[in-house]
Amino acid sequence: MPTLVAGIDSSTQSCKVVIRDAETGALVRTGSAKHPEGTEVAPAAWWDVLLRAIESAGGLADVSAASVGGQQHGMVALDAHGEVIRDALLWNDTRSADAAAQLIAEHGGGSEGAAAWTTMTGSVPVASLTVTKLRWLADAEPENAGRVAAVALPHDWLTWKLSGSTDLNDLATDRSDASGTGYFDTAAGTYRHDLLAQALRISEASARAIILPRVCGHREQVGTGDAARGWGHLVLGPGAGDNAAAALGLGMSTGDVAISIGTSGVVSAVSPRPIQDPSGMVTGFADATGEFLPLAVTLNGSRVMDGAARMLGVDHDGLAELALAAEPGAHGLTLVPYLEGERTPNLPHATGSFVGLTLASMNPQDVARASVEGLLCGLADGLEAMTSLGVPVQSIKLIGGAARSAAVQQIAPAIFGREVQVPAPGEYVADGAARQAAWVLSGAAEAPSWTTVESETISGTPTPEVRETYAARRSLIAEKH
Ligand code: XUL
Repeated sequence: MPTLVAGIDSSTQSCKVVIRDAETGALVRTGSAKHPEGTEVAPAAWWDVLLRAIESAGGLADVSAASVGGQQHGMVALDAHGEVIRDALLWNDTRSADAAAQLIAEHGGGSEGAAAWTTMTGSVPVASLTVTKLRWLADAEPENAGRVAAVALPHDWLTWKLSGSTDLNDLATDRSDASGTGYFDTAAGTYRHDLLAQALRISEASARAIILPRVCGHREQVGTGDAARGWGHLVLGPGAGDNAAAALGLGMSTGDVAISIGTSGVVSAVSPRPIQDPSGMVTGFADATGEFLPLAVTLNGSRVMDGAARMLGVDHDGLAELALAAEPGAHGLTLVPYLEGERTPNLPHATGSFVGLTLASMNPQDVARASVEGLLCGLADGLEAMTSLGVPVQSIKLIGGAARSAAVQQIAPAIFGREVQVPAPGEYVADGAARQAAWVLSGAAEAPSWTTVESETISGTPTPEVRETYAARRSLIAEKH
């Protein structure tokens, strides 16, 4: 009987479970179930969905270890009894945008405040980061804020639930997710209780009494499964934020960049040194192997494609066909796709705009083309910010739901000005979590070597003029907000 490990991806839209052979990495079983919609979700719903996904993957009775990868930043506030105080605010909830601005202002504001935050934590606060959600809680719901005894993130709360513990001191996390809170010094690897205190408007002594998940090593066992559910044999890994888990699942190392187009659009790269970008384009997070994972994240990923397809009355293949039938540049039409506000650049209250509409471009092909180009131009800006910070970029892997679109695959090399690799469709976040679980189980210094991701390489003629037009129009929109 092979030794089996489970990897879990609790993402914004669904929960996926992969069960793999710990030795070879061979896929044995999978399961999944859908999450409720919205940017404010009861954590209990994630737990119910995880239990259903585990069941649909054939259970954990024969599985030796598990790790959870999860959507980053969501605020899971717990009271002294371990109960969730209110629904979690997710990474894509923008109600704490003013709180982010306040936190920067309190450190001198503008570029001075932004530089202070990057030095302290590695990142400039935006509405996605947990620290801003806590400030929002302190101001909007002071009674709830007063009951906070512990703050967890989605992945570490789910790991705790898998363990069956109700003791807040058993909460455990890893560097990758801790680095997205905004109260963790990513370069030093330690919490900043002073920033937690600042967010909650309490004294540092009171903030020190709030339990934050223990930050564990990337191959450390953090506990065992809930014996009452028959999981007493299950070794639990520390888990990771979803982007770090995907990097582990793809076997990324220095020079590799992943561009993931899921609900969020994410440009991520492995870096041996911490990255600090006071412009806020790149957030300086940690990875799941002891290194760093700078990210540029947009709020508008695959849903730009969903919206465009809906508007044109076609499915995703139909949208791709239309976009590929148009000329590059869509006869001068640009979509600046800030449909849900935007995080990179930080324009939480922006909306999307079609700019340059003429009779020549007012047709389904050009609208489809402009949608795909606009989505990719936003990501190209993130990629450029990364290279300008000296992050090495040797290869680009295109992953996530929207990367399956033929239009995204064909147009990406033109917009990025480089060839892209398209790995076979896969659950790379869950795979990374499974790889971590196998690593924890093995006790070895190196991660199991079972990532052999097959990729197709796609090249194309660069279209820098499309990016230039986009950049000019994006700047005009930014000025208005
Ligand atoms: C990363 C981020 C998103 C979520 C999506 O900073 O906010 O990529 O992790 O799940």
